[in-house]
Order: sequence, then structure tokens, then C-alpha cells
Amino acid sequence: MGAYREEWRRSIEDPEGFWGEAAKAIRWDREPTRVLDRSNPPFYRWFPDGELNTCFNAVDRHVEEGRGGQAALIYDSPVTGTIASLTFTELRDQVARCAGALRALGVERGDRVVIYMPMVPEAVVAMLASARIGAVHSVVFGGFAAHELALRIEDAQPKVVVSASCGIEVKRVVEYKPLLDAAIDESSHKPEHCLILQRPQAAASLQAPRDVDWVEALSNATPADCVPVAATDPLYVLYTSGTTGRPKGVVRDNGGHAVALRWSMANVYDTHPGEVFWAASDVGWVVGHSYIVYAPLLAGCTTVLYEGKPVGTPDAGAYWRVIAQHGVKTLFTAPTGFRAVKREDPEGKLIGDYDLSGFKYLFLAGERLDPETYKWASEHLAVPVVDHWWQTETGWPIVANLMGMDPLAIKAGSPTVPVPGYDVRVLDATGQEVPAGTEGAIMIRTPLPPGTLSTLWRNDENFVQTYLSRVPGYYLTGDGGHFDEDGYLFVMGRVDDVINVAGHRLSTGEMEEIIAGHPDVAECAVIGVADELKGQVPRALVVLKGGVTRDHATICEEVVQRVRDQVGSVASLRRADVVAALPKTRSGKILRKSMRAIADGRDEPVPSTIDDVAVLEALRPVLRAGA
Ligand code: COA
Ligand code: AMP
Repeated sequence: MGAYREEWRRSIEDPEGFWGEAAKAIRWDREPTRVLDRSNPPFYRWFPDGELNTCFNAVDRHVEEGRGGQAALIYDSPVTGTIASLTFTELRDQVARCAGALRALGVERGDRVVIYMPMVPEAVVAMLASARIGAVHSVVFGGFAAHELALRIEDAQPKVVVSASCGIEVKRVVEYKPLLDAAIDESSHKPEHCLILQRPQAAASLQAPRDVDWVEALSNATPADCVPVAATDPLYVLYTSGTTGRPKGVVRDNGGHAVALRWSMANVYDTHPGEVFWAASDVGWVVGHSYIVYAPLLAGCTTVLYEGKPVGTPDAGAYWRVIAQHGVKTLFTAPTGFRAVKREDPEGKLIGDYDLSGFKYLFLAGERLDPETYKWASEHLAVPVVDHWWQTETGWPIVANLMGMDPLAIKAGSPTVPVPGYDVRVLDATGQEVPAGTEGAIMIRTPLPPGTLSTLWRNDENFVQTYLSRVPGYYLTGDGGHFDEDGYLFVMGRVDDVINVAGHRLSTGEMEEIIAGHPDVAECAVIGVADELKGQVPRALVVLKGGVTRDHATICEEVVQRVRDQVGSVASLRRADVVAALPKTRSGKILRKSMRAIADGRDEPVPSTIDDVAVLEALRPVLRAGA
């Protein structure tokens, strides 16, 4: 642990020295003379007087430095039967054209561009093009329904939305354009233009002059150059689920982000220029932003963009096929993908069909890595299986086993140790640090390292209130857990109302708001219960308004459909039950934790603050019925 400990200590005691050195790996238009601005806590700013362009560092510089002919991006799409690749030179040319097209549509530095796309190269091109001209992108996961998209359009106020005619879910074609049109109808903010990629699987009807065809716009465009921006200028806003009905717009800066991500590729992922990195995720999530798009490209690696599933496209050998075919060194995905593979191919027989000799690491994150999945992956693959813990807000790993710096012994169930830059502490309810072995709230002492969120979009107050006000000087992660005697962190799960469904972060509070809008529902609770494949799935309990005589089964179906229509099928809400009452504390707080424990079959003491134990007991058969 010597090398790791020493680096970590240095990063905490001398962040300016540590990150100032890391910043040398980035090409700046104006070298920063200061590393960290601490003048306005809790708002810390990294590289306050530096100027750079993230797209230049991710694309153009590699062409300048002799990597123009190397594949920057490999697009592997079993759902369309396509494999294609773009060299750094080709990527630069496409991005420059797209940037020119955005500019022709009126997008200027600082304007927002919402990107609602499936997993196609054009999604990456649009992100980089927006960065190229200093605009701020906000990618919305393609599996979200119109209402979710509308919330994001409303908040981000984009000048342009970039979208496609459809996505492909294995064999089902999901038309995006009707969802986009509905979202724009619902939002009070109207984008000036929509740039639409027509895919052959579905034709979108375009409404001129608002809607513009991607191919036409790019072929008419004058390629645009990279615009230097302040290191502290926003690169993107990525909305994530919080505890309320409104998603939170996590703001990422340009400078700190580029420095941290590039550093992470070498030190956490041990993946270097010219090597192939595959994050099997979606560009709509933070893993996609950081490790499909920015980090591998900033590091001069080849990134794989996979439009398919771990199983069913066409079988449970998909991971192994892609690794072998494209020479992947490092795979990063969510444990749920491995659970899906394990379920279909428990003996791992398909692994033997492929040459995995170039494969060196499997990194897993996004949800807790359960010991069974860890065991299966490590037994069947001759590579380290590295659990690591982070979140949308941080943008890169908080706790990991640093494969490129000082690999430590793996302890199943722990993502290992705090990454340099992160001063992680476990605190009790009074804000005091707890001893090793004791559970508490996982917090991080501020300043957070570069690359982490700088604020919430146009909402500094909410940023401070949500993350920084619980214990002054600490960032609240929302997760609970403990350290062991060796300094390994064990993350036990969220302590708030955020749930993780198949690696997708969702808010039970938001689903409750949607269900409460059903005309027959008086009140409701949504809880996340354990699920063998997806880790967690939501369940809804609804109390009907007095006098409602309609069939309960019909109401429950409507409730499920309502969430599907408004959040999207990714919410995976399959079960709702009508109940007589919800258990509450004397102060009126719904006892979600106790209900969750019953549904998961755990025996937990009923809190003494509960008013009516009988209400909770009455729910026991309903909650257990879904287990
Ligand atoms: N666009 C439209 N719909 C989407 C979608 C997208 N991008 N992604 C998922 N959906 C839909 C699915 O079609 C499915 O619809 P259905 O209920 O009508 O069948 C629903 O949302 C749930 O999808 P999913 O959560 O993917 O479950 P699944 O049962 O289809 O597949 C897994 C299970 C484990 C194979 C799948 O969840 C998976 O690949 N997970 C990995 C996720 C991941 O990589 N997360 C990123 C974290 S790093
Ligand atoms: P997201 O913002 O979607 O990346 O989700 C972040 C949340 O996922 C974290 O706050 C954790 O609750 C959970 N999570 C991510 N990685 C891990 C991990 N390795 N172990 C346990 N939980 C994790």
C-alpha cells in the first residue's frame, strides 16, 4: 500500500501540487497560473485562470500528435448488424462539421444543446461538437419517456435539440421523434431547432423550419474550429435523480474534468494511448459521458460504442465477442449485465469460444457488486475484477483499486480505498467520525477534487442545500457504509430515496409524484426492493381516495402504465398494490425503510416512533407476496 498511501496523502495535503502536475497532461490555450481557487467556499474552482478546449484535447490534439490514423471510436451494433470505425482524423472532420451545423442553427458559446439519442456515433459527435464551440450539452438517456425529456428541456432551455428517428431495443424499434415532439409540447421552453438523424429503421416526420435533417445540415456546414473556453466554464449538464420529483442538473466544468479524467485513465484503469477501452453503458448516463466519450478520447485510447445488450444480441457471449473482435483491454460495465450473462450461461461456456488474451481488466460500478457476481466473474475470467464506487455528481471514481498506480488485494464486497483527491469519511448522525467497523453516512471533505460537480444548473442554493449543508465542510454522498481496519470502504447502499434499477439511477420520490397524479390515488409510497437480476426494482403501494369504487386491479394497471408512460419502461415498475393505509411515524413520515426490510425478508426492529404498528403489520402479507 506504500505507493498508494503516499500519493493519496500528497493529494490531500497538497492538492495544488498534485493536480497542478496532473494538469500538464492537458493542452491549454492558456496555462493556468493558479490550481485551486478557495476564495468562495463551498464553491471551489479548479484552474480558475486556465483556458482550453475539451474537444481539442479529446480529438484534434491526437491528430496533431500523430494518432490521426488510429481508430478513435469503434461502433459495434448487433441490433443493426453494423460494425464501423472512425479514426481520430475522421472523427475530427465529422465533429467540426457538426459544430458548424450547430453554429448555423444559432448555437453560440454558453448556449445549451440537448442530445436525446440512441447509442450511435452521431451522439458522440454531437457531444464533442457542442464542446468544440463552447456550448453546453445535456444528454438525456434515450430510454426516458417524453415527460422526463420535457423536465430537462424546461430546465436546460436548449437552443437546439439533437435527436434521431429511433432507437432499437433488441428487436423493438422505439420511435424517438413522437416523444421529442410531445416533450416540446409539454415544456414551456421551445428550442429553436431540432437536428434529426434519420435512421433506416424508422422515418421521422420533420416540421420545417424547426426540424432540420442531420445529413443535410452537416453536408452544408462550414467546419468549425475549437473555441478556447475558461477552465471553469460548463462543459455539460447531466440530470440525475434526487429525492424530489425534479431531476438535478449536475454541472461539469471543462478544465478540472479534462485533468481528472485523463489522470484516471492511467492511474485507476491502467489504460494508455492506443489501447482499447470499452464502457458497456449508455451515453445518457455518467459512465457513458466519462468513460465512453471523454476519458478514453482524452487519453488517446480507442473507445467502443456498443448498441446492444449483454444477452439477447444475440446471446450471452456478446461481451466476449466484442472484447475479442476489437482487442479490448479494459471492460467497464454494471454488475447487472454480468448477472444477466450468468443467468443464461451459468457455466460460462461461451467464454471459451473467444480469444480473450488481450483482455486485462473488468471494472464494475453503478450499483453494489454482490459477492456471487464477483465470484462468478473472477472464477470465469483470468483478470482482476475491480469494483469501484462513484456517482453522477463526482464524474469519476471516489473509491477504487488503482490498477495503474498500486494494485491492492481485492476484498469482495468493498470497492477498496479512496482515490487520491477524495478525503472520504464516515460520520454519525451528529457529524462525528465513527471508528472502523461502524456504519454511518459516507461523506467527503471539501474541496472535492477536480472533475466533480461545480454546482447544480442555475441553482447554487440547491447545490449547497442538497450536498453541503448536512455537515459543514463535507459533501454528502447519499450512501451509507463503513471502513474496515485496513482502510477499505464498504458501501452498503443509499440512505435516501434514490434507487438503482439495472444500473439506472431513479428516484422513488419522482415516481410517487407521478402516481399521486392519478385521479383515484389519495397517497402512495414507492420503495426499492431487492431483485435478483436488476439489483433493485420499484414497488408501489397506493391508498385510494374515499368513495372510489373502481376495480383495484384496473387502478393498479393504470398506475404501472402511468409510470411507464412518464418515466419510461426503464423504471421497471411492474407491481402496484392497493392498501388501506401507509405506516407513518408520529411526525407523518412514511416508513419506507421498514417496508423495504419486510419486502426483502429482513427482520428489522419496528421504530419506536411509529404510531400504529398494526398498519405496518397489515402490510406484511402484501409486501412479502412480491418477494
Ligand atoms: N431506449 C428505450 N427503451 C429502453 C432503453 C433505451 N435506451 N433501455 C432500456 N429500455 C427499455 C427496455 O426495452 C425494457 O422495456 P420493456 O419493459 O418493454 O421490456 C425496459 O426499458 C427495461 O430495460 P432494462 O432495464 O434494460 O431491462 P431488460 O430486462 O431489458 O434487460 C439487462 C436487463 C440486465 C440485460 C439490462 O438492464 C442491461 O443491459 N443492463 C446494463 C445496464 C447498464 O449498462 N447500465 C449502465 C451503468 S454503468
Ligand atoms: P449514478 O449516479 O447513477 O452513478 O449512481 C450512483 C449511485 O450508485 C451511488 O450513490 C451508489 O448508491 C451506487 N453505486 C455506484 N457504484 C457502486 C458500487 N461500486 N458499490 C455500491 N454502490 C454503488
